[in-house]
Amino acid sequence: MNRLTANELRQKYIDFYVSKGHKQISGASLIPENDPTVLFTTAGMHPLVPYLMGQQDHPQGNKLTDYQKCVRTGDIDSVGDSSHLTFFEMLGNWSLGAYFKKEAIAYSYEFLTTVLGIDPDRLSVTVFAGDEKEGIPADEEAASYWESHGIPRERIFFLPREDNWWGPAGETGPCGPDSEMFIDTGRPACGPDCKPGCHCGKYLEIWNDVFMQYNKTEDGKFVPLKRKCIDTGMGIERTISILQGKKSVYETEVFQPILKGISDLCGKQYGENEETDVSMRIIADHVRTSVFILGDEKGMAPSNVGQGYILRRLIRRAVRHGHKLGIDKPFLTELAPIVLDLYGQPYPELLAHKDFIFTELKNEEVKFEETLVKGEKEFEKMLPNLLKDPRKVVGGRTAFKLYDTYGYPIELTRELAKEHGMTVDEEGFKAAFEKHQEISRGGSEQQFKGGLADHSEQTTALHTATHLLHAALCDVLGGYVKQLGSNITAERLRFDFNHDEPLTKEEIQKVEDLVNEQIRKDLPVTYKVESLDEAKAEGAFAQFSSKYGEQVKVYSIGDFSKEVCGGPHVTHTGDMGHFHIVKEQSSSHGVRRIKAVLEK
Ligand code: ALA
Repeated sequence: MNRLTANELRQKYIDFYVSKGHKQISGASLIPENDPTVLFTTAGMHPLVPYLMGQQDHPQGNKLTDYQKCVRTGDIDSVGDSSHLTFFEMLGNWSLGAYFKKEAIAYSYEFLTTVLGIDPDRLSVTVFAGDEKEGIPADEEAASYWESHGIPRERIFFLPREDNWWGPAGETGPCGPDSEMFIDTGRPACGPDCKPGCHCGKYLEIWNDVFMQYNKTEDGKFVPLKRKCIDTGMGIERTISILQGKKSVYETEVFQPILKGISDLCGKQYGENEETDVSMRIIADHVRTSVFILGDEKGMAPSNVGQGYILRRLIRRAVRHGHKLGIDKPFLTELAPIVLDLYGQPYPELLAHKDFIFTELKNEEVKFEETLVKGEKEFEKMLPNLLKDPRKVVGGRTAFKLYDTYGYPIELTRELAKEHGMTVDEEGFKAAFEKHQEISRGGSEQQFKGGLADHSEQTTALHTATHLLHAALCDVLGGYVKQLGSNITAERLRFDFNHDEPLTKEEIQKVEDLVNEQIRKDLPVTYKVESLDEAKAEGAFAQFSSKYGEQVKVYSIGDFSKEVCGGPHVTHTGDMGHFHIVKEQSSSHGVRRIKAVLEK
């Protein structure tokens, strides 16, 4: 196997697919564009959903490749073991109706055996076993292609839906059977049922080819897609750790320098003690993810909602584990430069946002220190009452209140309790915690249910209204107004922009009138594809940078608005309804937020 580094793997993957006629596209922001259903980009396909759905053609053509930064926080609490990460990079290649299973498998096989130098005898693959209920047959076709490359039948495993079906990402949308590729480490099988997908460590998954063949509809039916697509995903961190023969991702060059930095700060070596290793891994993972969220094109600051809240949790958890390791000063800003060194080249946005990253990390760390002090004070206030309990137990609800309201970690409550000869009702705390989680999970599932595919008429119209609003704000307030954030649900649009003062009633009225005037004019909405430089030269609004000088879509609404955007939009403004601003408020320092609706 070729012991590739992350930088080498990234480059070789892109070069390989470019040599096979694919266009390299820029990975997208970690914050999904106009997608209220998820907090972060979780896979390479995520920003490509409208194209995979066949709703529109991609300006770069029908064969694409990229590397995509991803954040998955579903198992944030598992981070600390040797394999879970909150941030990872995904390599991918897509066919938007250009080629399908045969070629996708041929490319995968060639890349694995030649570029990665994997011995074909060590490859195993899985394919979909079929689903009688849905009338979807076993994927004999994919199996036959693998066989044609020399993978024997006994190393082709037919697995059910839990293992070999991917998507849809939301409730509806593109999905299909997939085929996963595994390296056999040569370890003995853990039992007679051991096969790829077993977690004993014999088989390591390296790549996933998804055959986007069906559209899952709202009534739960799987309707064959008119245009079949390929979506693949290879995790960089996991793959290099396999190629380099490392026991875990933390032993590779993308984590070693960060762990060394932590080691220098706390005077403990990585690999000496499992408990301190866990803390070191948590800090290393969380600081890397935090730098990427802060340094994103749409950089997010820590806050109490959405992405900002996840960021806050990551930073605080890292700081807490720093304390556990005995680091007694703010330290995240000392680790951030290591992350920038590692990733500044493939992700130049990190360097562009360097000051923001450092300021926010520092502020949040200091603020958290204050939280800890406040939590302790609260505990002391409660103490006389707590001590009245003859069993000397701090109730679970009390511990949870300290955690939930003051952000005071349970470990520290436990320590404080101990100092006063008390224990904590751990079961009660757990129960309160789980109850809370159920409530918030319910919330995020709800959020997810809207489905990635929720590009309904209403959200499309609100998207067009967002462009009109942006242009109207520029007219009324001044050309400096820039979009700093946008979020659309089926009910309303939300638009953040730079402006120092509240808008006056007159200004709000003017903006509304201007937008409604454009709607009344029934302006045509059109787009053309050109280079980002050309688009900017024509005065189009553009919020993202293009790393490869690639072609972008520029949407025009009559002569009123011109903006770089992926769409989709209405074709004419005429029947969008009546535009109404329901709220104008401060979002953060120097940033205003407008919420608006389209009334029918
Ligand atoms: N979208 C597929 C995945 O995330 C490739 O595994």
